[in-house]
Order: sequence, then structure tokens, then C-alpha cells
Amino acid sequence: AAAATGQALPRTIQIGPHRICTWYSAPYPQEYLHLPVLYICPFCLKYMKCSQVLSRHMGKCELRHPPADEIYRSGDLSVFEVDGQTSKLYCQNLCLLAKLFLDHKTLYYDVEPFLFYVLCRKEPDGWHLVGYFSKEKRSAQKHNVSCIMTFPCYQRHGYGRFLIHFSYLLSRREGVTGSPEKPLSDLGRLSYQAYWEASVLEWLDARRPVTAPFSLAELCRDTGIDARDAAATMQRMGLLRRRSETGQLEARISSAWLRDFMRRTEAKRCRRIPLDEDALRWVPVV
Ligand code: COA
Ligand code: NA
Repeated sequence: AAAATGQALPRTIQIGPHRICTWYSAPYPQEYLHLPVLYICPFCLKYMKCSQVLSRHMGKCELRHPPADEIYRSGDLSVFEVDGQTSKLYCQNLCLLAKLFLDHKTLYYDVEPFLFYVLCRKEPDGWHLVGYFSKEKRSAQKHNVSCIMTFPCYQRHGYGRFLIHFSYLLSRREGVTGSPEKPLSDLGRLSYQAYWEASVLEWLDARRPVTAPFSLAELCRDTGIDARDAAATMQRMGLLRRRSETGQLEARISSAWLRDFMRRTEAKRCRRIPLDEDALRWVPVV
């Protein structure tokens, strides 16, 4: 889906053990753009011009995980909540790094109004960045995700879905529903639509009888998914129609169809990265 442009600058980055071809340009300072490889500290995300500078830096850098509280840990996966205000440089570097894989404009410098939820995997030498999403501290439009990214070397392994699920868990803990900021990239749309479809159908499947009438508000409260996203998802799947007499939306789902869907997707569900809700140590700021 995401085509490398071939023109992206810097062309390649080295971060931890990974050498990654970039997809899009990011506004690193001019003198860092045309290097064959840009070297990035896997822990503080500082960028450097050559491997010698990096190895000197690695001898001094004291970070082994993002500069923030660990709010979730399960197995070797942790999530850190990084405040753009208190860890400004780290967040700016994270945004620059993310821009290399995002086609649309995103923020780089004005990070103070955002929190960054950084997903890391524990390795022998520290916590390595797998992906993240950013979230506005106060979103007038109830956005629960601003930007979301999984590092290319970790993509298609379910981390994006884990991050999306995590963002809705935070919304549910806040007692609200949320929606990602638009526009979504092609990969963002694919990931969200897959998430919404599965969430709606699994929610419907958990009810008895599955064909009983239900309220959209209830679905949204239980999943954290915003009513517009949920309704659009159901409409796309052909599960909603408007009653001509009353104008009211009515869900139409056959239990055989739903059973078949659940059977077809069972193996996929088993492969998901589990999100242990009890492992979240977090209270919303109010
Ligand atoms: N082609 C087709 N479908 C894809 C896809 C691809 N390249 N990448 C993801 N999907 C869909 C699939 O439906 C997938 O479910 P599956 O495992 O059942 O196939 C679902 O999205 C989630 O995949 P997952 O492995 O959990 O996501 P990921 O870790 O690869 O992360 C993004 C998804 C969007 C975060 C990642 O592609 C990314 O960082 N892209 C670059 C930045 C970006 O565009 N961010 C979104 C900004 S709005
Ligand atoms: Na975005």
C-alpha cells in the first residue's frame, strides 16, 4: 500500500539493530538530510551524522526507555506515557522519526499540547521503540489519536491493532468515546476499518440472542468507538438500513452470517497481541 517514493530524505536511518529505508522526507536540519545514513539513538532518539558519533553517544546516554512513566507492562511489551511538555526534545525527535513514514504533514515542534503513548519491547539492553500514538491533552473534537505509527520493521505483526485497541481502552477509562484525527493515511484507514469491523461484530456476537435489537449508544460505550465511526462501519458492512416509515436506523444481522464470520476469523483472533486491561496503571488527568 505505502509506496516508497525513492526521493525521501534522509534516505536511510539506522536505529538500534535496524537499518530502515525511509518512505517520506522529514524536516531534519539541512546538514542531516543528504547523508547516506542518519544514525539515531534507539533510546533518546537523538540523531547523528555517523556511527562514531553514535557509539560515543551510546557510551554516555543514560536513557534505556522513554523518559516517562511506564503505564502498562505485559510480558515483554510496555507502554510509556510521555508528556510533550516535560520531555519536549524526545517528543520532537519522535515526531521527526514518525514523519519519515507519514505522507501528510504532522507536527514536529509544537509537542507541548500532546501526550505520546510509546510502545516498547524489552530487549537485553533496554526498551526498544516498536510504535506509538500521540493524543491531544484537550481535544475539542474528542480525538483519541492524533498520529499513530508502527516502525516498518515491526509492521504487519499486530502492533498497530494493539495501539488502536489501547487508545480505545484509555477512552473507556475516561468514560468517553473517541475517534482518530482525520485525514487517515491509506494504511491508517485499512487498520482502523479492520479494527472497527471486528470490534462491532465481536460486540454483536457477544449478545444473546445476537439478533435482538441493540442500541448504538451501548455499543459505543462498551467499545469506546465514536458513534459516527461505528455507524459508518455498520453501513459499510451492509448491517444498517433506514426504515422508510420512521426514518430510524435499524440493524440487520443474520445469526448464521455472524457465526460464519466468527468462525472464519477465529485463527486471526488467536494470533492477536493480547491487551491485558488489568495491567494498565493509569488514571486520566482531569
Ligand atoms: N496492507 C493491507 N492491509 C494492511 C496493511 C498493509 N500494508 N497494513 C495494515 N493493514 C491492515 C490489515 O487489515 C491488518 O490486519 P491483519 O493483520 O488482519 O491483516 C490491520 O491493518 C492491522 O495491522 P497491524 O499489523 O496491527 O498494523 P501495523 O503494526 O502494521 O500498523 C500502521 C498499522 C497504520 C500504524 C502502520 O502501517 C504505519 O505505521 N504506517 C505508517 C504511518 C501511518 O500511515 N500511520 C497512520 C496515520 S493516520
Ligand atoms: Na494522523
